Amino acid sequence: MTLLNVQDLHVTYHAHGQKPVEAVRGVSFSVDAGESLGIVGESGCGKSSLAKTVIGLQPPSAGSLRFKGQELSRMAPAAFRDYRRVVQMVFQDAVGSLNPRMTVRQTLEEVLHVHRMVPANRVAARVRELLDRVGLPETVLDAYPREISGGQCQRISFARCLALEPQLIIADEPVSALDVSVQARILNLVRTLQKELHLAVILISHDLAVVRNICDRVAVMYAGQFVESGPAADVLDAPKHAYTRELLAAVPDVGRALRERAQRPTSQLLTPSS
Ligand SMILES: Nc1ncnc2c1ncn2[C@@H]1O[C@H](COP(=O)(O)OP(=O)(O)OP(=O)(O)O)[C@@H](O)[C@H]1O
Ligand SMILES: [Mg+2]
Repeated sequence: MTLLNVQDLHVTYHAHGQKPVEAVRGVSFSVDAGESLGIVGESGCGKSSLAKTVIGLQPPSAGSLRFKGQELSRMAPAAFRDYRRVVQMVFQDAVGSLNPRMTVRQTLEEVLHVHRMVPANRVAARVRELLDRVGLPETVLDAYPREISGGQCQRISFARCLALEPQLIIADEPVSALDVSVQARILNLVRTLQKELHLAVILISHDLAVVRNICDRVAVMYAGQFVESGPAADVLDAPKHAYTRELLAAVPDVGRALRERAQRPTSQLLTPSS
């Protein structure tokens, strides 16, 4: 089933007194339920603009955005509120995206409460379930974001999304601010959640190796457009577009890592979370 369908989407910023910036210039793609799509491309190519537009934070300047066949711009307020619940975003700055004045428990309780996800007498149990889902011990419940690690904060960000029972999660560079050793564990979590909860995931990264190991399909973005897309292995092993080849060649370590990783089962690549 197609969840999200994007057709010829354009996003243009009109900053006062400046030339308009065409951040997204005619992008089309769709995402099925339970599927993972990777979007890769260099800094400034429009990845975050695309993501923000898909979740309804930034209005498109042209094009169509449909969720389960319904055009976003024509949704009734109640339907749009529901859309904003079932399509969630996780950001790069995990610590900064959490309220510094709220403990982990308060953060999770608040989201469950505000969106009336469970009856009041089920909130505490649901908080524990969510922690378990993202591989965190209950000992973090009374901690503030600054008292736990970046990786743990990112797990809480995912737990907060999951509290809303989403169908699609857009993760915008979710690991690029984390230590390399932690990155693999968080990516492993993303994939586990995707498989176990049948979640659709859009994973945005500049790291081709990250996307290849997590995503069913990959789209390569350049200057506001998708220059190439297809099954992850096809795009990254046999890139057709010159820009994709350039992107692969520009990061020799990634090219080597890709070849090495391709020879190993992914279970060995992504160590279990701890
Ligand atoms: N609010 C804004 N107002 C004006 N221009 C913007 C705004 N947000 C982004 N841009 C511009 O739009 C273009 C695309 O930016 P965007 O943040 O979408 O790229 P990105 O691919 O996410 O980059 P990065 O990898 O660095 O996160 C850039 O030229 C950027 O300067
Ligand atoms: Mg970005």
